[in-house]
Amino acid sequence: MAILTVATQAFEGQRPGTSGLRKKVTVFQQPHYLENFVQSLFDVLPDAAGLTLVLGGDGRYHNRAAVGTILRMAAAKGYARVIVGCRGILSTPAASALIRHHAASGGIILSASHNPGGPDGDFGIKYNLGNGGPAPERITDAVYARSRDIDRYCISDQPSPPVDQPGRFQLEQMTVEVCDPVAVYADLMRQLFDFDAIRALFRSGFRLRFDAMNAVGGPYARALLEGELGAPAGTVVNGEPLEDFGGLHPDPNPVNAEDLIAHLFADDAPDMGAASDGDADRNMVLGRAFVVSPSDSLAVLAAHARLVPGYRQGLSGIARSMPTSGAADRVARALGIPCYETPTGWKYFGNLLDAGRVTLCGEESYGTGSVHVREKDGLWAVLFWLNLVAASGKTVETLVRELWREHGRCVYSRHDYEAIPSARAEQLMRELRAALPGLPGTTRCGLAITLADDFAYTDPVDGSVSTGQGLRVVLADGSRVVFRLSGTGTEGATLRVYLERHEADPARHDVPVQQALAPLIALAEDLARIRHHTGMDHASVCT
Ligand code: G1P
Ligand code: ZN
Repeated sequence: MAILTVATQAFEGQRPGTSGLRKKVTVFQQPHYLENFVQSLFDVLPDAAGLTLVLGGDGRYHNRAAVGTILRMAAAKGYARVIVGCRGILSTPAASALIRHHAASGGIILSASHNPGGPDGDFGIKYNLGNGGPAPERITDAVYARSRDIDRYCISDQPSPPVDQPGRFQLEQMTVEVCDPVAVYADLMRQLFDFDAIRALFRSGFRLRFDAMNAVGGPYARALLEGELGAPAGTVVNGEPLEDFGGLHPDPNPVNAEDLIAHLFADDAPDMGAASDGDADRNMVLGRAFVVSPSDSLAVLAAHARLVPGYRQGLSGIARSMPTSGAADRVARALGIPCYETPTGWKYFGNLLDAGRVTLCGEESYGTGSVHVREKDGLWAVLFWLNLVAASGKTVETLVRELWREHGRCVYSRHDYEAIPSARAEQLMRELRAALPGLPGTTRCGLAITLADDFAYTDPVDGSVSTGQGLRVVLADGSRVVFRLSGTGTEGATLRVYLERHEADPARHDVPVQQALAPLIALAEDLARIRHHTGMDHASVCT
């Protein structure tokens, strides 16, 4: 029944990346490592008296241990109440919804998202604000600064309460409320979507295959799709959250979800396929023998949003991350609403959503979301698609092809070069950055370059400036190549090369993507000398 003050020493490298602090589980298992980071956060946050904190994670290995430690530290910080998901589980969008629902002061989310889990896998932690969204840079920078000279942390000496069943417990002066992780989220979905129409769709024989990738999306998808919307049992596969995701890489893209792709391209394929990632904020959507690119998905949802009850009033605006294709911009133009271009990472959408400037947002990295929470939301996107299919009577493929016919196709691909020695990746970026000023007005590989810069963003709401957000090279016809280093990886560096070209001619919409982008792929190699710097002659993953 006492608050202990424990002496500690600072660890190197506790700098949050694109989405919180991510490291190998073995790094987090070092004595005091998690405690140091949590205390650094608590030291940056104001006094917690009377405040509520939300806590939960994607159920990966180390989740349970971390929940226990954080509860004991939250009691020491003086929170009045912590709301924690049963078994320590909360999907990232559900955590965001809970923060908003309970008007909590913030939340701690334990996840390394789409990174592999298990004792040799990754773990992560991030803090979300009272709006339900990821903390902005000014806070993550302050936490990092604090982590560099921290010398003590505070923790209750009481054991942390069990979190296996919903219930209420006392830990020091703090109440711990263990809640059903699905209920508040499910209620929100009921308010947004036409559940009757989706029910009727399933009743008519429409078949969906939802691959939860043995991750936290399973319980949510089962409860809503099979439980409430009448999809037949077995619609949700890999639906049990496992600590190591059953050895799968819970990143829904055509490489890691190849089993789902195979089902959707089989003779007896279902009408629609979908998958979500480790913490259920990402989504992949497929039609029968048809892969929907995430950038197109955002554009389709935007174009037809009025068919969905929660968006019947129309959209105030759309936001997309800079490397995401311009498909949404074209839809926004047609709708007469603004489209904002932000740096990569969901935290940049928060201000625009809070200010009511945008309703929908998305990233090329399989992230789509809206003003209903302040995170991207995998199951929400799938329900949105189901609602559109039900309300329009059109297939997934038809909805995308109509988008292309009306606006042209933004042919798009991302090439990832993984596990490059960091020094080499940095050298590549340094050289390319240095070459940028000389590029506009020149022709390389037969392509005329009109703009080359290091993307910087001024937040239109609070005026904050974020620099160094990706090197972009834009051609006279609007085609682009963008280069950036991942801020979520834990092994060496990952170079991401984003390629985009607009194809107006419907006769050319079925040219294979890599073929259609071949001149840009050659340009990327010419500009960045990827082979030379990385020693790799092809990308690890192309999405
Ligand atoms: C990646 C994606 C980015 C997304 C983030 C978190 O970050 O590219 O769009 O917001 O994961 O899911 P990166 O590794 O590129 O820094
Ligand atoms: Zn995720």
